[in-house]
Amino acid sequence: MMNRTEVTHFLLLGLTDNPSLQLPLFITFLFIYTITLVGNLGMILLILMDSRLHTPMYFFLGNLSLVDFCYSSAVTPKVMAGFLIGDKVISYNDCAAQMFFFAAFITVENYLLASMAYDRYAAVCKPLHYATTMTTSACTWLIIGSYVIGFLNASIHIGDTFWLSFCESNVVHHFFCDIPAVMVLSCSDRHASELTLVYIVSFHIFFAFIVIWISYTFIFVTILKMQSTAGHHKAVSTCTSHFTAVSIFYGTSIFMYVQPSSSHSMDTDKIASVFYTMVIPMLNPLVYSLRNKEVKGAFTKIVLEAK
Ligand SMILES: *[C@@H]1O[C@H](CO)[C@@H](O)[C@H](O)[C@H]1NC(C)=O
Repeated sequence: MMNRTEVTHFLLLGLTDNPSLQLPLFITFLFIYTITLVGNLGMILLILMDSRLHTPMYFFLGNLSLVDFCYSSAVTPKVMAGFLIGDKVISYNDCAAQMFFFAAFITVENYLLASMAYDRYAAVCKPLHYATTMTTSACTWLIIGSYVIGFLNASIHIGDTFWLSFCESNVVHHFFCDIPAVMVLSCSDRHASELTLVYIVSFHIFFAFIVIWISYTFIFVTILKMQSTAGHHKAVSTCTSHFTAVSIFYGTSIFMYVQPSSSHSMDTDKIASVFYTMVIPMLNPLVYSLRNKEVKGAFTKIVLEAK
């Protein structure tokens, strides 16, 4: 056994250590986080209050807002504290908790987006069977399933990371405790078999992606074959918001994965992560409310009633 001192806390290097950027960045992130809170919590309230929005699509959307709010909150407040008071220390347990909740909610988001793609597929391609396919219990199970997979996936990955021992360096080259950024600090040997096991047991992002891809292929084919322009218009308008949200989410992941590893500078990775962790949860409610007549209608109704 080597003589090692275990780390008790980590140091997050953050986005930049340029002192003149700390205040402008704090204000930017405060702005982003405020819109995220108001947008997502507002969306949840709107969906709860307006009975016209009590349909499967909005049931999923309300959960998407909840998940966006949760994973943004796992990361953003700590980043803002770093900018404002220069607090870059995070305890071992807080780091594990941050990693756990971020990984869990981002996985739930994946599976919710897949469930929503399936919902749109059922609505556009099998309209006559829609009411019998997307029943309340089917929706409830899809949503419960997404949360269960998210929390299981996060438990497996966090267990795997914190099972390693950390000894020498505790400096995380990132602005939050992301799994890869913390894993590189470990000083234990990782056996190939153990890695394979984690990859077999953990739930893969590609599964959700394939469900979305197949659903949209069917949706596009159905829309192209539609004769009536009214039906065409309705189908397109119910799918564009979700399709936009999916494209933003997967567009960022693809951007992160397709870069050749040589050009993977820490800075482009960090900027992509800012997008992922803080900007996307702000955009989702905007995408849905700006493009969607029903959401706008519900909002106007509540504002008028309040007067
Ligand atoms: C499970 O979690 C890991 C680590 O955060 C992540 O890379 C993977 O994409 C997650 N799976 C899904 C389906 O999101």
